[in-house]
Amino acid sequence: MEPILKTENLWKIYRAGRLDVAALRGVNVDVYPGEFVSVMGPSGCGKSTLLHVIGGLSQASRGRVLLDGNDLAALGDAGRTLLRRHKVGFVFQRFNLLPTLNAKGNIALAQHIHGDGFDPHRFDVVTRMLGLTDRLDHRPSELSGGEQQRVAIARAIINEPKIVLADEPTGNLDTKNSENVLGLLRQLNKDLGQTIVMITHNPEAAAYGNRVLHMRDGLVVDGASAN
Ligand SMILES: Nc1ncnc2c1ncn2[C@@H]1O[C@H](COP(=O)(O)OP(=O)(O)O)[C@@H](O)[C@H]1O
Ligand SMILES: [Mg+2]
Repeated sequence: MEPILKTENLWKIYRAGRLDVAALRGVNVDVYPGEFVSVMGPSGCGKSTLLHVIGGLSQASRGRVLLDGNDLAALGDAGRTLLRRHKVGFVFQRFNLLPTLNAKGNIALAQHIHGDGFDPHRFDVVTRMLGLTDRLDHRPSELSGGEQQRVAIARAIINEPKIVLADEPTGNLDTKNSENVLGLLRQLNKDLGQTIVMITHNPEAAAYGNRVLHMRDGLVVDGASAN
């Protein structure tokens, strides 16, 4: 089987004034279809940078990202934006929902941006699975943190992305809501075969995945590939 995501000697150097910060220093990772990979490592070791670069939100300084066989660097900005919309679902610690739209609007907007228009069947399946059917008329400010993150997950998976990239998705949630959200991610992985890469610094959260990848100082030091 081919990996859905592959990095080859991936470097990311931030130029901050006169100082260069090498956030990624030659990362080689493979993620295969159907995997749920947890990414752990101390603060500042490059986890978020890795997620941003593999998801096409920011560009590598050196090396390659292959996402579903596409070389991100070869695509250009417009091509990367399209690939991101069609193949990647993002989930962030701070939910990042649009405050003026209700839950339904936030999820449906992702379908419109995707270009295929609103698909009521898919919308029903996803919102039922995430337990959101009676929360759809509420704006983010009227929802709990756990509910907001469930809306964000619904938005991330509504277009059947090849991969979901989640950056500390339970970082703003209490224990009960964290367990709920992690259980849902595991269910999406098991029942829908959704491939997931999830950053966390909580070992209990990491244990929801099938593989733990450990980072340190811009390098993957353990668990880089399933093989
Ligand atoms: N936009 C940026 N500009 C300059 N340095 C950055 C930027 N983003 C992250 N860094 C630096 O890159 C390193 C890795 O950061 P990050 O990927 O956020 O780590 P983590 O998510 O593991 O905490 C840190 O030293 C951080 O300060
Ligand atoms: Mg981070």
